[in-house]
Amino acid sequence: MVEFQSRIGKDGRLTVMEIPFDARETFQMPKGTIFVCGTINGIPYRGKLLSRGNGKQVLTIDKTLQKGLGYAGQDFPVNVAMACENQAEMVDEEKEAIPRLHSDMEAITAIAGRASVRKYMDKTVEPQKLEVILRAGLSAPSAKNKRPFHFVVVEDKAVLGAWAAGNSNAKMLSHAPCCIVVCGDGNVEGTRDFLVGGCAAATQNMLIAIHALGLGGVWCGVLRGKEWSRQVAADLYLPVKVEPLAVIALGYPTEQEKAPVPWDMKSHIHYERW
Ligand SMILES: Cc1cc2nc3c(=O)[nH]c(=O)nc-3n(C[C@H](O)[C@H](O)[C@H](O)COP(=O)(O)O)c2cc1C
Repeated sequence: MVEFQSRIGKDGRLTVMEIPFDARETFQMPKGTIFVCGTINGIPYRGKLLSRGNGKQVLTIDKTLQKGLGYAGQDFPVNVAMACENQAEMVDEEKEAIPRLHSDMEAITAIAGRASVRKYMDKTVEPQKLEVILRAGLSAPSAKNKRPFHFVVVEDKAVLGAWAAGNSNAKMLSHAPCCIVVCGDGNVEGTRDFLVGGCAAATQNMLIAIHALGLGGVWCGVLRGKEWSRQVAADLYLPVKVEPLAVIALGYPTEQEKAPVPWDMKSHIHYERW
C-alpha cells in the first residue's frame, strides 16, 4: 500500500486525482491497465488509472465518490492510500503460497457430475480447501480481464442464520458451515451485463471446485434492489458500487449424491442455425 498526498481537480470534463509518482514503476506494471484500490480521506475507492502521457497517471473520481468526499468543484487536497490490484503484480513468494491441493477428479467429470447440495454435515470446511475454491473463482474469465469480483467468506453462525431467515430460497444457510458471497465491483466494471457475467463465471468455477473436492454447494441468487440484497450488503459493509450477486452455501454433503438432471440434447443444442 502506497500512502501519499494529492489533489482532486478538473481535467476537461472529468474529475480526477493526480498520481504524484510513476505508477508503472511503483506497481511494477510496465504495460496494461493498472487497477487500484484503497482509501481517499478514509473513504474506500476502486478504479483504474488513466494515462496522461509522460508517465503521468490520474484516477477518475466518479460522482458517487465526489459526493462521499464532499468535493464541490474546487481543487481539493486529499490523503490517499493506494494498492495495485493487478494479479500480474503477484510476487514469487505469493505464487509459491498457492496451495498444492489437487483433486483427482477430471474436469469433464466434475462439470458433468455437479449438482446443487443443500444439506451439510456439522463439519468445518478446511481453510486450505476454501483457498483452492476461492482461487478457482479468481481463475474465471471476465470482459477485458477486469476481474470485477470479490469473494467474502462468512462462517459466523449468527449472520448465516439471519440470511437464512431473510430469504426462503436460502434456508440451507442456517445449517451450512460457511458461505461465499460473490460481489460485483461496479467501480471496476461499469457495464452491468459484463459485471454479472464475470461474477456468474466465478460462481460456477467455485461450484465445480467445491464438487471436485468432495464438498457440496448451491448457488443462491441475489436479486438487485431487494431487501435480501440490502441485508447482505449491509452486514458485509460493502463499499459503494460493490453489490452481492450470488451467495454460495457450502459444506460436506449429507445428501446422497444426486444424479444431475438429464438433458434432451436435441431440444437445446443447435448447429449452424436454430
Ligand atoms: C442464478 C441462479 C440462482 C439460483 N438461486 C437459488 C436459490 O436462491 N436457492 C436455491 O436453493 N437454489 C438456487 N439455484 C440453484 C438452482 O435451483 C439449481 O442449479 C437448479 O435447480 C438445477 O439443479 P442442479 O444445480 O442440481 O443441477 C440458483 C441457480 C442459479 C444459476
